[in-house]
Amino acid sequence: MKIIIINGPNLNLLGKREPEIYGAATFEDYFKSLQTKFSSVELSYFQSNIEGEIIDKLHEVGFKYDGIILNAAAYTHTSVGIGDAVKGIETAVIEVHISNVHAREDFRHTSFIAPNAKGVITGFGLKSYDLAIQSFL
Ligand code: DQA
Repeated sequence: MKIIIINGPNLNLLGKREPEIYGAATFEDYFKSLQTKFSSVELSYFQSNIEGEIIDKLHEVGFKYDGIILNAAAYTHTSVGIGDAVKGIETAVIEVHISNVHAREDFRHTSFIAPNAKGVITGFGLKSYDLAIQSFL
């Protein structure tokens, strides 16, 4: 089973960025622990701060992977383009967030991805990604 995690803008700063919200671990370290835990899954990881690169990656993997775990970060709340890409591909997408976006500012309550996602997992810290993998399995 091939699953990719796609992270959007500012998530390269995990571990340094607002640790009271996003935790102290880097995503690279957490990703290694996911690879160890789910050793039967071919897991890959892509991060970009650029909207078009995220869209290109969705097009590239969206007809050949078994699952996509997408944390589009701030683009979740703004990007019609990423929402359309999720709608246009075949592979199921699970939207994830580290924080509980519904417990935060109003602008974070809107998602252009959720209407076309298989489901949304929000607020479980980095464990949100683990839960998304489990749901694909
Ligand atoms: C986030 C929530 C978004 O609202 C925010 O812009 C992020 C991270 C999360 O994982 O909690 O950058 O997607």
